[in-house]
Amino acid sequence: MEQRSFGRSGVKVSPLCLGTMQFGWTADEKASFEVLDAAYDAGINFIDTADIYSRWIDGNPGGVAESIIGKWLRKNPEKRTQIILATKVRGRMGEGPNDEGLSRKHIFSAVEQSLKRLGTDYIDLYQVHWPDESTPIEETLRALDDLIRDGRVLYIGCSNYPAWRLMESLWTSDRCRLTSFISLQPHYNLVHRDEFERELEDICLNYDIGVIPYSPLAGGFLTGKYAGDQAPPEGSRGAMSDRIQAYLIDPHSLSTLEIVKQIALERKKSPSQVALRWLISRPAIVSVIIGPRDLDQLEDNLGCLSVELADEDMRRLDEGSAW
Ligand SMILES: NC(=O)c1ccc[n+]([C@@H]2O[C@H](COP(=O)([O-])OP(=O)(O)OC[C@H]3O[C@@H](n4cnc5c(N)ncnc54)[C@H](OP(=O)(O)O)[C@@H]3O)[C@@H](O)[C@H]2O)c1
Repeated sequence: MEQRSFGRSGVKVSPLCLGTMQFGWTADEKASFEVLDAAYDAGINFIDTADIYSRWIDGNPGGVAESIIGKWLRKNPEKRTQIILATKVRGRMGEGPNDEGLSRKHIFSAVEQSLKRLGTDYIDLYQVHWPDESTPIEETLRALDDLIRDGRVLYIGCSNYPAWRLMESLWTSDRCRLTSFISLQPHYNLVHRDEFERELEDICLNYDIGVIPYSPLAGGFLTGKYAGDQAPPEGSRGAMSDRIQAYLIDPHSLSTLEIVKQIALERKKSPSQVALRWLISRPAIVSVIIGPRDLDQLEDNLGCLSVELADEDMRRLDEGSAW
């Protein structure tokens, strides 16, 4: 698989990154191992997770996706050095006042817990999951810089950051001589373009921040499987997500999906492959984070790499989905 330079760093990553939010949620351990094995064999060398995955399930303390990856790495120790392993910190992982956030206190305890669950002594990319307005950015960046200096973390990135916060972070790193974020993980897909494209895209292009978008299929909406008058099947993301249900009654999202489906028909590919290919081809994008729950979905998602979109296809997608 092609390898791409990751932002301002020297590290190389595949254009698809395996997301793991579904591990321990819609994919059990067996299915997760199958997906991990097959993704690795196909050439994906980049895995994204977070400490909180899958804490939203009733009674679940979180950390399940990290634990599954840790178990898989213990079975396959030779793969550890080949993989760029990314996780995140910020979300609530306990009931105490310091069991969440981006304080030095929480970051130092969260990284230890993540390392334990992942069964490794370093994290390749440690990302702040979303901003913490109650902690000065300098405190967060200094804590992350210390983790890099002592070798527990190799690179740092941010997720769900608005433009002003990303710029403030880059300036603070410069001013205080601290390590800078090399990546941004935004919510970005054909039916959710404006949040990233309005300002973040230009910052990332001008400051060489590697962009790794999440929810590239809008949680499954862009597969086309929910379109129609049937309610989303029980257990699917569509049945659990208000956002997907909103797409299903939004005329602009539905007309965008129609263009995706039409191009897929013409190219003899699936709608998800067309949607993923569009995203991989956008400026600033280094690697797109997919979230397959099983081998069939992974195989379909991987097929995006062989889609060839003509300039005219890109124009139809760009203009049809414009915000
Ligand atoms: N930083 C953040 O705040 C954040 C937030 C969200 C996600 N993420 C990361 O991004 C990753 C991907 O996000 P995402 O899961 O929302 O991505 P997505 O690609 O938009 O949605 C993936 C879901 O779509 C459905 N799907 C995928 N391929 C399919 C196919 N070929 N046929 C039918 N259904 C298919 C599956 O759901 P069902 O089978 O259940 O319908 C699958 O779990 C996550 O795993 C996580 O690592 C990060």
